[in-house]
Amino acid sequence: MRIRTFVILVFGGYALLQAGMAVWFGRLGVSDGGIALFLLVTLSMPLYLNLAFARGWPRPLWLMPLFFGYFFLSGLSLLSLGVLFGGETVLSILRGHGGGAGVIPPARQAGWILGSVLLVAGLVLFQRFRGPDVHRRTLSIPGLGQELEGFRILQLSDIHVGIFESDATLKRLRRTIDHLPYDILVFTGDMIDRKLEELEKFFSHFGDVQPREGVFAILGNHEYWIDGSTVAKRLEENGWMVLENRSARVTRNGQTLYVVGVSDPASAEGPDGGGPDPAKAFQHVSPGPGDMVVVLAHNPSLWESLRSYPATLTLSGHTHGGQIGLPFSGWSLASFFYDFDQGLFRREAGGGAQWLLVNVGTGYFGVPVRLGVSPAVELVTLSGR
Ligand SMILES: [Fe+2]
Repeated sequence: MRIRTFVILVFGGYALLQAGMAVWFGRLGVSDGGIALFLLVTLSMPLYLNLAFARGWPRPLWLMPLFFGYFFLSGLSLLSLGVLFGGETVLSILRGHGGGAGVIPPARQAGWILGSVLLVAGLVLFQRFRGPDVHRRTLSIPGLGQELEGFRILQLSDIHVGIFESDATLKRLRRTIDHLPYDILVFTGDMIDRKLEELEKFFSHFGDVQPREGVFAILGNHEYWIDGSTVAKRLEENGWMVLENRSARVTRNGQTLYVVGVSDPASAEGPDGGGPDPAKAFQHVSPGPGDMVVVLAHNPSLWESLRSYPATLTLSGHTHGGQIGLPFSGWSLASFFYDFDQGLFRREAGGGAQWLLVNVGTGYFGVPVRLGVSPAVELVTLSGR
C-alpha cells in the first residue's frame, strides 16, 4: 500500500538521519546524556505523530511543519557533511568507527556547497514569489452538446491558507484568477491548513468570487481533520455549493453539466462518519445526449472507484505534485506514492473515455518549499470538436 511505503520511507529515513546525527554529535564531543536527550526528542516527535494518526489521538498539526522542517534540516546537515568531508568519511562516521574528523575542507568544496545552497534557496524563493502558473487545457469530449461548447471550468486546489500562505501570495492568486475567463469555479479541497480561524483569511481573499454559473467545492483531508461539517456550513453560507457525496446541475438551454462531489476518505475518520460514496453521489446523475459530467474528488486515488460511473472528467488535487519534481520530465516526488501524481490521465471505461486531472495546487504541506513543481491553477475548456 502506497501510504505505508510513504510512512516507511519518511520515518525510516528520518530515524537513519537521527542515528547519523547522534554519532556525529558523539564525535564532536557531545556527552552521552546530551545525545540520549537529542534522540528522545527527535525520535519521539514522528513516533507520536504516527501513533496519533493511527489511533485517533490529538493531532497537533503544528508538529507537522516542525517535523518535516527538521527532517529537511538534518538531511541537509548530513549532506553538507558529506560534501565537506567526503561520502566515505560520512559513511565511516555512521558506521561508528573512525573517519575523517579533522580533515580541513578545501576552500573550493566550501565554495561549492555555499553556491549550491544559495542556488537552491534562490530557486525556492523564485517559485514562491512569482505567482501561480495557469495551465490552460482544452478537453475534447465527443458528443458534447452545442450549448456546452467552450464551457470553462476554473479549478483551484490545495490553497492551504495558514502559516505558509502570506497575504501577498493570496493576493497574487486572486489577481491571477481575476484575469481569467471562466463559467464556474471549483475548489477541490484543502482550502485551509490547520485551524478553523484560517477560514476568515480564506474568505477575505476569495469570499466574494461569484461567477454567474456558480462556485462548487468539496472538502479535503485537512478540512476534515479540522472540522468538516463546520467548514462545509460556512462555505454554504457564503452561497457556494458544497458537494459531499452529492451532485448539482448547471443548465444551458436544456443541456446539463452535472457537477458531482465524492467525499474524501478522511471524512470517514470524523464524528459524522461518512467516507467516499460514489453511488450516493451519482444517484441523481443521469446524463442525456450532449450532457457532461464533472466529478470533484480531492484525492485522485478515488478515480479507481469511478470506473462504472459516467465520470467523464474528474478534477482532483491532494498530491501537490510532491512539491518537488523534475521540470519538463513529468517526474514528481508524489509519483512514489500515487499512481496519478499530477496532470492529465485518460482511460477507457464502459461508458467511453474518462479523464482525470490532478491539480498540483498552490499551497504547501509540511514545508513551505516547492522545487520543480510550481503552484498552479487549472483552466479547462470543454469542446465537442
Ligand atoms: Fe493539500
